Amino acid sequence: MTEPDDGWLIYQGTGVPHGGIRRLPPPPPWRAFGGRGPDYSQPPRGSEVHEASRRFGNPQSYRTPAEAVEIINAALLLRRPLLVTGAPGTGKSTLAYAIAYELRLGRVLYWPVNSRSTLARALYEYDALGRAQEANLPPEGPAVVGAPDAPANDIGGYIRLGPVGTALLPGPMPRVLLIDGLDKGDLDLPGDLLPLMEDGAFAIPELARVASSLPSVQVMTDDPGGLAVLRGGLVRCREFPIVVITSNGDRDFPPDFVRRCVRLEIAKPDRARLSSIVAAHLGADAAAGAEDVVQRFLERGEHGDVAVDQLLNAIYLTSHGVRETQQRARLVDLLLRDARDGRP
Ligand SMILES: Nc1ncnc2c1ncn2[C@@H]1O[C@H](COP(=O)(O)OP(=O)(O)OP(=O)(O)O)[C@@H](O)[C@H]1O
Ligand SMILES: [Mg+2]
Repeated sequence: MTEPDDGWLIYQGTGVPHGGIRRLPPPPPWRAFGGRGPDYSQPPRGSEVHEASRRFGNPQSYRTPAEAVEIINAALLLRRPLLVTGAPGTGKSTLAYAIAYELRLGRVLYWPVNSRSTLARALYEYDALGRAQEANLPPEGPAVVGAPDAPANDIGGYIRLGPVGTALLPGPMPRVLLIDGLDKGDLDLPGDLLPLMEDGAFAIPELARVASSLPSVQVMTDDPGGLAVLRGGLVRCREFPIVVITSNGDRDFPPDFVRRCVRLEIAKPDRARLSSIVAAHLGADAAAGAEDVVQRFLERGEHGDVAVDQLLNAIYLTSHGVRETQQRARLVDLLLRDARDGRP
């Protein structure tokens, strides 16, 4: 596969994977964090390919709009999080997977935010209870590590880095981190994220406390089966991760948080973009045979919230057997209902 040489644009938005991330210029001095590594197992390869085809069908059938490509590249070069806003179903979350796929950056680290989410748990979790329980097991029990007179060197087996913690490990390539639906989170969450976005580092006090006797500890990461060796209980990134933060705009974020992000507003897709999305998922024939459904979707979208995945569902259903005109129209109407209309 050839490497594109299109000036400063690293991410091209073509859906064709390439090794252009190696051309990424050094960070601005204030975004160089100096973490050393790699001391961790690399993200599983290949999973991003499966995710890509699940999420956007044939990735090469769809192109990211040119204005969006420039903004994404600005975030890449400045090592700043990308704050993606837009109506429901406009492809905000999909963007993170498109970046990971095209830049061959492996599995996307995913933090779905809800009202109970805390940054602490997205960084790491320490299973103190599990460790205490195992320490009390009789010596003939399944694991003798942690028995009363054993050294405390089993602690790493009870620490698992979350998606944000794993994204900050100092690997050779930046990871892609999707912080999905930040506006659904606690009011304080953006403020909690600020120091992390500025420092690219965090400490694990449980490990820092034992650092003199245990300078290196192996912990689990957010990747399936992933392991990392931490020194002195500190995680510091080498390259700031590619952070995609999405929001439906349910709530405004504090200005000092917004200022530290590069902002991308995704517009509602027009007819041409919808056709290319439908073709990418369901093939050109399905797209050509569904112009009436797309038309209905555009009409509905003018007055309310209908998402692209509703359109895809409607076209899938109507192109798989439902041919009778009235039944087809009824089903399309049912599936393209405004998401804010909560009636069953
Ligand atoms: N570039 C694309 N190519 C093909 N399909 C896409 C693309 N972008 C979005 N889609 C499709 O549109 C649908 C909605 O995308 P996505 O879930 O990313 O939207 P969203 O803006 O994150 O929605 P929400 O606000 O509900 O979280 C998905 O079915 C996805 O597969
Ligand atoms: Mg989403």
